[in-house]
Amino acid sequence: MGSRMAGNLLAAGYELVVHNRTQSKAGPLIEQGARWAPSPADTGRLVDVLYTMLAHPEAVSRMALGRDGFLNGLAGGSLWVDCSTVNPSFSREMAHEAAAHDLRFVDAPVAGTKGPAEQGELLFLVGGAGEDLDAIRPHLEVMGRKIVHVGGQGMGTSMKMVINLLLGEAMLAFSEAMVLGESLGIPQETLFSVLVGGPVTAPFIGGKKEKIAGGEFQPEFPLRWMGKDLHLVAITAYEEGVALPAANVAKEIYTLAARHDMADLDFSAIYRFIHQQSGQP
Ligand SMILES: NC(=O)c1ccc[n+]([C@@H]2O[C@H](COP(=O)([O-])OP(=O)(O)OC[C@H]3O[C@@H](n4cnc5c(N)ncnc54)[C@H](OP(=O)(O)O)[C@@H]3O)[C@@H](O)[C@H]2O)c1
Repeated sequence: MGSRMAGNLLAAGYELVVHNRTQSKAGPLIEQGARWAPSPADTGRLVDVLYTMLAHPEAVSRMALGRDGFLNGLAGGSLWVDCSTVNPSFSREMAHEAAAHDLRFVDAPVAGTKGPAEQGELLFLVGGAGEDLDAIRPHLEVMGRKIVHVGGQGMGTSMKMVINLLLGEAMLAFSEAMVLGESLGIPQETLFSVLVGGPVTAPFIGGKKEKIAGGEFQPEFPLRWMGKDLHLVAITAYEEGVALPAANVAKEIYTLAARHDMADLDFSAIYRFIHQQSGQP
């Protein structure tokens, strides 16, 4: 996701400095004119706006904090924009760390997979000060098609938790419905024609039909990230004191599917997992 987003900034004419744990993955961007920084702190020294698009909170901490972290490199008053999907309390913790270094912080996670990232059609969910969003709006407009300012710091990732909870549960519910229908002898094509596009099925599931029918789950949004995001939802619910029983069950089912070699498949492979576990031939 990060390399595709960075590619759009580069194509729009922005001067780009890049760093990644695995340097080789930055090769294509460097060939297109981006400058390589050997460490996160060096990256910070060379930019006044720094974007992160990293796997999970642990990856963000590793890059941001510590002696070699980019918070130590950025000059006072610079802006850090974290686009990673992380939990809201972690975003607020990072906002606090940034403030302690006299830096500004915006959380701006995205909705949309690698295709929209490549085409500059992401939806940005922004948490932070209005003036900080104004400063980065031209960048976000290059990388995305829509920007929603949800509220203050941590509110972008709050909205992201809500969206991915719904995605994960809807995909799982649809999978169970399909497996029940198939067990009753309803042809898969009939199930699709009645369910997909109708009022009881989430519209995004229309885009998963080919994968389910073909039994090929080439990743758009990898199942491992859905498992991670439901884990972050569960943490968030606990912190907020709200009970989300179905989310916690869904989280465990995605974890089981990941343990059955499905982590790198699209998250719609949860259908394959439910089908396998159902005892159907
Ligand atoms: N894929 C999607 O469709 C999608 C959609 C919306 C949001 N997101 C979110 O976007 C973020 C990135 O996802 P992605 O699909 O781009 O994943 P990805 O291709 O696996 O990239 C993950 C990035 O995190 C780095 N990373 C992982 N663990 C690290 C660690 N311990 N220390 C330092 N760096 C580490 C990786 O470095 P290496 O290259 O060295 O491994 C890589 O740069 C995630 O938060 C994901 O939930 C993804």
